[in-house]
Amino acid sequence: MSKSFSSKELMALEDHHGAHNYHPIPVVLSRGEGVHLWSPEGEKYLDFLSAYSAVNQGHCHPKIVAALVEQASRLTLTSRAFYNDCLGPYEKFVTEFFGYQRVLPMNTGVEGGETAVKICRKWGYQKKKIPSEKARVVFAKGNFWGRTISAISTSTDPTSRDEFGPYTPGFDLIPYNDLGAAAAALKDPHVAGIMLEPIQGEAGVVVPDDGYLRGIRELCAKHNVLMIADEVQTGIGRTGRMLACDHEAVRPDIVILGKALSGGVLPVSAVLADDDVMMCIKPGEHGSTFGGNPLACKVAMAALQVVRDENLCDRAARAGERFRGRLGESIGRYGWVQKIRGKGLLNAVVVDPGHKHSAWEICMRMMKAGLLAKPTHDHIIRFAPPLVISDQELDRGIDIIEKVFASVN
Ligand SMILES: Cc1ncc(COP(=O)(O)O)c(C=O)c1O
Repeated sequence: MSKSFSSKELMALEDHHGAHNYHPIPVVLSRGEGVHLWSPEGEKYLDFLSAYSAVNQGHCHPKIVAALVEQASRLTLTSRAFYNDCLGPYEKFVTEFFGYQRVLPMNTGVEGGETAVKICRKWGYQKKKIPSEKARVVFAKGNFWGRTISAISTSTDPTSRDEFGPYTPGFDLIPYNDLGAAAAALKDPHVAGIMLEPIQGEAGVVVPDDGYLRGIRELCAKHNVLMIADEVQTGIGRTGRMLACDHEAVRPDIVILGKALSGGVLPVSAVLADDDVMMCIKPGEHGSTFGGNPLACKVAMAALQVVRDENLCDRAARAGERFRGRLGESIGRYGWVQKIRGKGLLNAVVVDPGHKHSAWEICMRMMKAGLLAKPTHDHIIRFAPPLVISDQELDRGIDIIEKVFASVN
């Protein structure tokens, strides 16, 4: 492309030629480095969204980009019709990294979720001996795991769901953070699995009570049900531990990873499980042209190595304390802030829905002041900067948030 477009022109191009399935904050980004993003006109922003937690390692991390560039000029895709020289080393690396026997590589987060549901149903028929076509998988209300027909079939959000039916059968919904409801649901002998986010991200960073995940783990063991943790958003350091389930020392039967598994460079997702579960899938029963491609394998290894080498879990834990500590002190001044909640660097501010300024307007003001965040569900603002954020950068971000909050008081 020889012509360089202005931000205004770029937004108009999307508006005229793209489907209107998103409503972005009106800012165009053309460069990123660490926690910063720049518009084509050179305006600089602090990124407090991290592409929905895909860019935990910071934008264009040099080690991840180097792995991408190096591999891109050697071999990018073979399909799984053949072996390639990156997949085996990656599978060894990622399974040892997370302590599971096997991995099934996919691309997007939602494909990871679909894969987990398929593996779970197969296990239900083969190991739990659920009668044919009767397997059920339990989900929590408020869940979000993507946009496929099955994912929206479990959704309780009308915007995601309405007028896309008919829906996939075989799913049950229970309230989140309610062990009594889980206990009742898992008693059904046709239930093969329960799939949960350890913290519900898109629902507005809903953190369950301490002991909830452990309780789910115990119920799953009691009723011979697979515990499936959707760690696509919470995993890979975001909440201050490598997996959010680690906070309760819970080991799920199936873990789904995505987003930051590539540091935001490519769509790379993975499903982890042990032999007993994973080996229920036989050749030809599941796959993906791009899943396990050499480029993704090299990028994912580099992305995980960065999280480990740079101690990003500890960094997220400490920065999160600082964030909630500082904002927690000042929110008393703003009657319309109902709550700050979160873990590590996955946090949200809940705005009184009756406040004269909407979460959207507050995000617009923050954008104009140099900080990018996005509302979720009209009255909740998520704050999730890259985990590489320094104390000074974090403080600068909090200064902007406080200044904007004061201006809408
Ligand atoms: C918890 C969770 N699972 C799955 C997904 C879907 O990931 P993707 O958009 O890569 O399909 C998301 C996306 O936000 C998510 O937050």
